Amino acid sequence: MKTIIEPFRIKSVEPIRMTTREEREQLIREANYNVFSLKSEDVIIDLLTDSGTSAMSTHQWAALMQGDESYAGSPSFYRFEQAIRELMPFKHIIPTHQGRAAENILSAIVAGQPGQKTIVPNNTHFDTTRANFENAGVTAVDLVIKEGLDPAYEHPFKGNMDLQRLEQLLESECDNIPMVEITITNNAGGGQPVSMENLRGTKALCDKYAKPLIIDSARFAENAYFIKLREPGYENASIPDIVREMYSLADGMTMSGKKDTFANMGGWLALNDDDWAEQARTHLIMTEGFPTYGGMSGRDMECLAAGLKEIVDEDYLAYRIRSIEYITEKLDAIGVPVMKPAGGHAVFVDARTLLPNIPPLQYPGQALAVALYLEGGIRAAEIGTFMFGRQPDGSEEPAGMDLVRLAMPRRVYTQSQGDYIVECFENLYAKREQMTGLEITWEPPSLRHFTAKLQPLAQASTQAA
Ligand code: F0G
Repeated sequence: MKTIIEPFRIKSVEPIRMTTREEREQLIREANYNVFSLKSEDVIIDLLTDSGTSAMSTHQWAALMQGDESYAGSPSFYRFEQAIRELMPFKHIIPTHQGRAAENILSAIVAGQPGQKTIVPNNTHFDTTRANFENAGVTAVDLVIKEGLDPAYEHPFKGNMDLQRLEQLLESECDNIPMVEITITNNAGGGQPVSMENLRGTKALCDKYAKPLIIDSARFAENAYFIKLREPGYENASIPDIVREMYSLADGMTMSGKKDTFANMGGWLALNDDDWAEQARTHLIMTEGFPTYGGMSGRDMECLAAGLKEIVDEDYLAYRIRSIEYITEKLDAIGVPVMKPAGGHAVFVDARTLLPNIPPLQYPGQALAVALYLEGGIRAAEIGTFMFGRQPDGSEEPAGMDLVRLAMPRRVYTQSQGDYIVECFENLYAKREQMTGLEITWEPPSLRHFTAKLQPLAQASTQAA
């Protein structure tokens, strides 16, 4: 069959409140043109993130009732641990309330003494990973292959680590590097996968320089499916076998259970090293909780355990990857510049190329995000100059790219909702030359995109006149 369908049917629905353009004009004005300040019930299609927004299955809801909330030794923890070990056979599984808590613990372990130079390379650090390392005094270095930074360049594994630059860094800074990390799929680089060959190459360099390799694993199943689709030799391999092979190359992992486990909350840190694991558990007890629940309730761990079995289902992954590709292809066909090839969890629109009339310092990505909301009540996140433009010295500079991420929650939206997204873009494309930029009227000292206030430039000049 040509048509890849949703391999599930809907048992329970959440009604969407439809809004008019007039209502949305007022709502976005009240939100100071920052989509993070909108109430979710005022959004028709919410593509802000694929994190914690999955629809759970009947098995997961049933598993939730088995949650045992004992402080220590809950059977829910052992089911959670076993479900992880079936795919990722690490010695120590340390539960946390979400991915960034695992990152926080790991960065505390690997940070050097105050004043000591410490560097962690990654293909691309996700923002919370970078923030946790930097907060611990570690310099986070991104070494993705150069093809990964060009939105229009077609390459099957744009998330790959640049092995040449990794080796140079390991050679010149060996004593200052406590570990190497690799993010699958590479979220900050467009949800692009890493090949098994590249994982193997990264591991070989880690072995040569005696460094542990840690995998930031939020979207591991999507990565495994891309390996099956695109990497010679894996056509007939099962997804669980590909996953086990990926993790046989690692010494540990951090996991956001809010993505590729279909859970709404949860995460873990897994390690083979006994000494690191002991340090991690000490830290865990101070910040998250006892080692058999971390920051989770028993029912959270049950949902994760059940979800891990479902996420490696090939019919699900075929549908998942196709649904992103479907929207990407349609946008490409109408002339909207998109990151190619399609990534695993989101469609990335290149707003700087779409809106050349809006200079980067007038935030073309944010202008597009606001326009999408006005046009169809769609909420998406700017990943560009609004997010990254403010420099440590207070000046402002254009980010490398001005992208808008349409992140697709798992098992939540249907194909006709995808068609609606495409139609909104069709309308916006026709109006692209009339679109104007924005200016910031207030911003906090850091991570400004979450809370800053903006206004459209046209409105600013009217007020000034
Ligand atoms: N690593 C990656 C690659 C991520 O994408 C995220 C979260 C994290 C770590 C942190 O995990 O949210 O459970 O603390 N990404 C979300 C997003 C927030 O929207 O892309 P967390």
